[in-house]
Amino acid sequence: MKILMVTSETVPFAKTGGLADAVSALAINLRKQGHDVRIVMPRYYKIDRSKLKAIEAPLAVAAGTIETWVKVYEAPLPGTDVPVYFIDHEQCFGRDGIYGTKAEPDFHDNPYRSAVLCHGAFQLCRLLGWYPDIMHAHDWFCCLVPVLLKHVCRNGYFAHTASVLTIHNLGYQGWYSKDSFPALGLDWNLYYGGGFERNGSINLLQAGISCADMITTVSPTYAGEMQSVEGGFGLDGLLRVRSDVVRGVLNGCDLETWNPKTDKLLPANFDYKDLSGKAKCKEALQKRMGLPVKKDVPVIGIVTRLADQKGIAEVFAPSYGSIYSICANMDVQFAILGSGEKWCEDEINSLQSKLPNLRAYIGYDESLSHLIEAGSDFFLMPSRYEPCGLNQMYSMLYGTLPIVRRTGGLADTVEQYNEFSGDGTGFLFDNLTPGAVYDTTGWAVWAYYNKKDHIKKMQVRGMKKNFSWDTSAQNYVGIYSDALWRGCGINTADWR
Ligand code: ADP
Ligand code: GLC
Repeated sequence: MKILMVTSETVPFAKTGGLADAVSALAINLRKQGHDVRIVMPRYYKIDRSKLKAIEAPLAVAAGTIETWVKVYEAPLPGTDVPVYFIDHEQCFGRDGIYGTKAEPDFHDNPYRSAVLCHGAFQLCRLLGWYPDIMHAHDWFCCLVPVLLKHVCRNGYFAHTASVLTIHNLGYQGWYSKDSFPALGLDWNLYYGGGFERNGSINLLQAGISCADMITTVSPTYAGEMQSVEGGFGLDGLLRVRSDVVRGVLNGCDLETWNPKTDKLLPANFDYKDLSGKAKCKEALQKRMGLPVKKDVPVIGIVTRLADQKGIAEVFAPSYGSIYSICANMDVQFAILGSGEKWCEDEINSLQSKLPNLRAYIGYDESLSHLIEAGSDFFLMPSRYEPCGLNQMYSMLYGTLPIVRRTGGLADTVEQYNEFSGDGTGFLFDNLTPGAVYDTTGWAVWAYYNKKDHIKKMQVRGMKKNFSWDTSAQNYVGIYSDALWRGCGINTADWR
């Protein structure tokens, strides 16, 4: 199949979270399975043009009320032959930030930026004379793709192309004033007809959900949760209407990057047969974070965007049961890496000054994230909601036991510890309250000191888990076939 991924993030070129990991890993796996998969994304300011190949002809793109011109660059996804095309438009992407900056968290012209990418994706195909079977759009930023395919382009060259929309996070929808609608470069009748209108504003994700031939999200449990009133962020009704095309496919992990046996970012490597390298990583982590080097005290790691989704209010805001109480009452250490909401960054810095057993780095640091996964004994992820979550899987692969809330992909990947049999791969709780985080962390710490044999067995069980992309990528191929059938009446069984 010919597949074009349309995305705002791809590792290693641009990343704010797991979306970037998921897109590139899925593309690589589909490529391994013999599909002609390509990626198109913006050429952000920080992506060095001199390392990319320029494609000569500029593209005319019908975003906004008058046509604009973009340039296209190309580079393979490093270490692969998956082509990545970069849409270069100085006004839209020649600045710091992917969706916004600290000063302007959501760029006011995001509708226009999104339109330049999505219209640009269609123009790119025309330029290349390469018409994909599937245009696979990721998250709200790329939602114009299914709209354009359904209402504008599905004739002529795109008559045999279907759309798939993957929702990585329903909490980010792209809501803008109705005044932004002209920026999308669409006829006004699509304001209602394309599914954009919501309470007098435009909602890009809602339009994508309305128009996509197939809709996926990144775990089976989240596929159910996002159709519920509690988890639907107001779009649950529409998702229920479209439930016959909604599927949940669990993300895999990129095992070339996240493998403790070969990870080049670690001071020592290890596998489930010999965990001595993990002890070296723990020591290196304690040193790097400025924690006392103690091999018998459990280290709890956190690597996260500091966003409400991640349960930060329940963990960091001062209250009984918060991380302060954990550090004050239990013999543990915390190694924290994260950035995001200002109040939380400030709170973590103040905790550091009060607690000798909590150390944090506020910022983004790839190599430290690997060291925390490898050097910690436990990994805390108390998410309010979690469409999939990658860190709990990385943790298990690195022999680090996750302590997680039973939600979304966390519920699908972590098995509850049984203190009688020693079964399980981690520690789960249901209610997102500081008390539940405190109690469950306390339970894990108790097991660390009192059930060493169980801890060892759980580590090994987690490290042996198969979190590869192989099965998930195959599931996507099935979904692509469904999309072609629903969108274009094409039966891919006839291709064989
Ligand atoms: P989300 O996409 O919601 O942020 P995921 O668990 O799916 O959550 O993916 C997060 C990804 O981003 C992981 O690869 C994680 O290691 C990485 N990450 C998050 N914050 C940081 C940080 N401050 N420094 C380095 N990597 C980070
Ligand atoms: C989102 C979700 C996260 C998921 C990631 C990749 O950012 O918050 O749970 O793992 O996308 O699909």
